[in-house]
Formats: sequence, C-alpha cells, structure tokens
Amino acid sequence: LNIAMLFGGNSSEHDVSKRSAHNIYDAMNKEKYNVTVFLISKDGIIINAEDSWRVFEGEDEDAIVAAAKDKMDMSNPLAPIAVLGEMADIDFFYPVVHGNLGEDGTLQALFRLLQKPYLGPGIAASAMSFDKDLTKRILNQAGVRNTDYVLLTDQNYQDYTYAELVKELNSNVLFVKASSQGSSVGVSRVTNEDEYKAALKDSFQYDYKILVEGALDKPREVFISILGNENPRASRLGGIVLPEDDVWYDYNNKFVDASGMVFELPVELDQSLTDEITEMALKAYKALGLVGLTRMDFMIDNDGVPYLGEPNTLPGFTNISLYPQMWEVSGISYTNLIDELIAYGIA
Ligand code: DAL
Ligand code: MG
Repeated sequence: LNIAMLFGGNSSEHDVSKRSAHNIYDAMNKEKYNVTVFLISKDGIIINAEDSWRVFEGEDEDAIVAAAKDKMDMSNPLAPIAVLGEMADIDFFYPVVHGNLGEDGTLQALFRLLQKPYLGPGIAASAMSFDKDLTKRILNQAGVRNTDYVLLTDQNYQDYTYAELVKELNSNVLFVKASSQGSSVGVSRVTNEDEYKAALKDSFQYDYKILVEGALDKPREVFISILGNENPRASRLGGIVLPEDDVWYDYNNKFVDASGMVFELPVELDQSLTDEITEMALKAYKALGLVGLTRMDFMIDNDGVPYLGEPNTLPGFTNISLYPQMWEVSGISYTNLIDELIAYGIA
C-alpha cells in the first residue's frame, strides 16, 4: 500500500505534529506500507517529497521550505496543493496534522476531492469535534455531561464583565478558550478581571468564538482512546497527575516540559465510574459521527462526577501522548494499532 503521510501544518500544533509523525513512521510496518512523507509548511504549502524527507530527517525546516517555495510557481492559485499532482501512486492518506486545517475537516475534504481513502474521521465529524462550541451542542443534544459555558463572540463579548461571568458560571476561577484550537493553545485559566481581559485578547487571536467555562475544583483528568467505525472499542483509562505547583494540564505540561508529570496507565477507578466514562465516550463518538480514532478527555469533580472535556480526532502520538499508550496497556501494540487505523480508513 502506498501511503502519503502528511505532517506539519499551518496551525499552532505544527511542532507537535512533527513529533507525532516520527513515532508513527517508526512504528509502521514497512513490509506492508510504502510510506512517503509530505511536509505541510507553517504557511500551509505542501512541500515536495524529497524536501519533506530532508525536514523529516531533521534538516533546517525554514531554509528548506524557503528554497522549495522558490522553485514553485506561487502565482498558480493551486500552488499550496500543487505537489499533489506528483502523488500519482498514492493509495491512502495518513494525516498526522493536528489543529486547524488538519483536524478540522479541511484536509479531509481535500482527500474526498482526490477520491482517496484516508485515516480518521470525515469532514463533518472532524469539523464539529474541533469546534468546542459545536461539540458541546451535540453533546448536550445527546445527553453527554459536559461543563456549562458562556459563548462569547467578537460581537457580544463586551456585554459581559468578569464579575457577571463568575456569577453566571458559579465559579471564581474561569477557563477562557478559543473555540477551535488544540493542545490548550488559546486557553487561559483566569482568576481576576485583568487576567480575564488578557485571556480574551489571546483567545481572539485564534477564533471569533470564545468559550468561558467555570473551572472544576482540582478535577481528576482522565482519558480514553476510542478505535473503530460502526462498532468502536474503548481502551482502558489513562490519567495524569500534575506536578505539585501546577494547576492545569497546559501546553507546557503536554509538550514542552513533562518532567514532574506522572502518567497513570491504566487508571484504576471504581468499576461503575469506569463504565460511566466509557459509555459517555462511546455515546459521544456516535453522536459526533466519528470513525477511525479519537481520544476523549474527561474531568472528574470532587464528588466523583465525570464531565466530557473534548474529543481529539487526530490525537497526539508524541512520546508522551496518551492515545497509543492507552491502547498498549489495553493489549494493542503501536504497530498493530496503526494497521487497524489504516484498515478502518480503507473500510
Ligand atoms: N491536540 C493534541 C495533539 C492532542 O490532543 O493530543
Ligand atoms: Mg484538543
């Protein structure tokens, strides 16, 4: 099978994608798959295979991309995707592109236009799952518990003060989140007016829709991996314990400095709570129309009540990413997991 693996991308998760792509490439069974990697540059240009490989191997990305673009006819309106014309023999697309223009239905639409099978959820499911506001609407309709929120847009945000949001959400600590982002980019935890204003400004860089949620008091964060199409399977749960002085699982803990973080694989919870979380995750998977894979993130409050945080339809595969690790402790090796994911994409 000739596989085109796309990595990088025009999102804040470009570097995370590079790390995920390496792990996936290394774990792929090369007897079965002939894999060509294609870099999507930080400005969204698909780079030719030869130069992409050089970047993949660690050469200076910015220099290689600049030189590759010099050789391209950038006046061609199809320039960002022109390289696809060279991909004559591609049987399957493997997107390892997190975030917007990768995980949000955009690339999936391109694969559809090219009439090729691909890994992971389709256009609508990807788009809904990447937009936290749309996700919550679907979850609420399906009866899957998630935290309350106030939706702000660039039109109405001035109607609310910090104090009013604190009152409405019944919490002194608020999370301010860009609706469409991954890896906790554009997310802030705020405890006063000044922090709130700065957070809004930050989040609005990423989206015109902002969610404000009340923070749960030191919630336990647990995660579950879902795999499959019509009859999806759920992994055992994974969890994290943050370093003493950290209050939430932010980009830094996830991808910059994970030292001091403790991973619990698997997490042992009461059976009834494990069952409830598993059921919620599978129900959400169905309601959102997901296929292939998704990591669902949960928070458990002090009373032991679980809330679905969000789905991640192309979850991280970095060395410390939980999706593949949760399958490993559930009996599926990294290499077999990739085989299954590809098979589900072709099915
Ligand atoms: N958005 C990152 C890659 C994750 O959810 O793992
Ligand atoms: Mg996410």
